[in-house]
This record gives sequence, C-alpha cells and structure tokens, in this order.
Amino acid sequence: MGLVTLKEILAGTREGHYAVGGFNFNSYEDAQGIIEGAAAKNSPVILMASMGAVQYIGLHQVAGMVKGMAESVDIPVCLHLDHATDYALIKEAIRAGFSSVMVDASAKDYEENIADSRAIVQFAKLYGCSVEAELGKVGGKEEHIVVDDATKAYTDPADVPRFVEETGIDALAVAIGTVHGFYKSEPKLDFERLEKIVKLTDCPLVLHGGSGVPVEDFKKCVRMGMSKINVGTELKATYSKAVRDAVAATPESVFDPRKYVGPVKAACAEVVKGKIDIFGSADKAWKC
Ligand code: 13P
Repeated sequence: MGLVTLKEILAGTREGHYAVGGFNFNSYEDAQGIIEGAAAKNSPVILMASMGAVQYIGLHQVAGMVKGMAESVDIPVCLHLDHATDYALIKEAIRAGFSSVMVDASAKDYEENIADSRAIVQFAKLYGCSVEAELGKVGGKEEHIVVDDATKAYTDPADVPRFVEETGIDALAVAIGTVHGFYKSEPKLDFERLEKIVKLTDCPLVLHGGSGVPVEDFKKCVRMGMSKINVGTELKATYSKAVRDAVAATPESVFDPRKYVGPVKAACAEVVKGKIDIFGSADKAWKC
C-alpha cells in the first residue's frame, strides 16, 4: 500500500473509539514482526524509529526498508521518527521519505516549544509529512532523553489550545502520568486531566510510555479519546528474550544467524497483535 502520514492514519480514531499503536523498532526483525502482527489483524500501524535506531540502522536504510515493507502489505503503515531533538536529523528524515516526525522540544519553555514545533511543521508541510510534538514532560528514560521525577511535568490543559493552534501539529503527546521504560510501581494515570484536554482540542492525542500500562487503563484512555499509543521497551525485552531463548535452544554447531534472530519476528508480532486487540484497531485498516 505504501506509506501514509500520521494525520491520515489517525483520522477517525477519536470518533471510532480506537487508537493506533506506535511501535518502536531497532532492526529488520522487529520491524518486520510489527508489520506482520498488524497485517494479521488488518490494523493500521505506526513504525517508530528513535534517533538511536536511526543512528544504528542508518537513516536511508530505515526509510527504504520500511517503505518496502509497507508496499508488501495491504494495511496503512506510517513511518515515524520518534522523540527527535536534532532538527537537522528531522529535516533529513523528512527528505528521506519518513511520513511523520516527532519534534521533541518539551525540555524547552512553552514559547520556545511553540516556535520550534511550528518551524518543523512549516518544513514538513513542504513534503506532505506529519508532525507530532510534546507538551509537558513525560518522565522516565527514552534512549537519550532522561526525565527524572523532579523534572517531569504533567501537561497543563490550559496550554493546549494555543499550542495546537500556533504550531499546526498533527498530533499532540501529553504527559498524564505514564513514564518511558518499565514501571517501578503501578502507573497512576490522571484521567481528569485527560478529560479536560480532550474537551479542549480536536488534535489527535498521543500516550507515551505504553510498556507496562494496565490493560484497563489503556482501554479507558482509548474510550476517552486517545488516538495513538506508543510501545517500545516491551518490544526490546521481547526481542532480547527471543534471541536468548533461541541461542540457549540451538547447538553451537548451528551457524545460520537466521536461526537465532529469526524468532524475533513472531515474538514481536504476538506482542503487537495483543496490543491491537486492546487498542481496538483490528479491522480498521480500511478506515485510513
Ligand atoms: P515505552 O518504552 O515505555 O513503551 O515508551 C515508548 C514511547 O513512548 C516511545 O516514544
């Protein structure tokens, strides 16, 4: 089908009461597993490469690989650059064919966050690429971005309308109590805050830090109007376990690398299928 933008893939999510999963990948095997899981569920899917993943695989390699994967399935696939703080890299990714980017200026003050996000939106528009930005500061560790408890800040609903209006973004990441990485204790989501934000904007909302969020909390977020949910750490752990198990189960005389990394595809596909069931996006491929 080819790549679609974030704007296209999230259209109708709020009214349809489902969210599209944004899944982080770091190599061919997990990316292909994510696509296969989504295709098996006839669900739209967002493949997310962090700056670290782009550095590891190569920017044009990521763009070419995921474009090829998208063309081989009949579901909408969006290729998204996740949590980018390097604006030169964002522009390179847009030129390379990413259909969506996240400009993460959340560490800056409100006015600077608006100015930087707006500048990226204006550039991205020239290429028909979507933009996600973050308001508030999601806690935890996401690759190069580390936000400790003292720094993290929930999204102030009052800040939302002007931010969306002046930046022209296609999706807004909100901080409502989730954190990046595995949770040390059960997350406490601020649903009242989410309710206020949903009432104040039509802009599709994004929940970061999906690994370890209880199923009922996910479902409540989706019912309330969350449009995109990001899952990264759980897939990294799944990837590592699949490789470890394959190495442990295979005699040393076997030297075909596919025997060791191949199982990652099915393992990641299973995680993705489970999340799609929770997010309600199965059989929504036709919606986009
Ligand atoms: P987790 O790694 O906590 O699942 O968060 C992923 C994420 O939000 C990527 O932007």
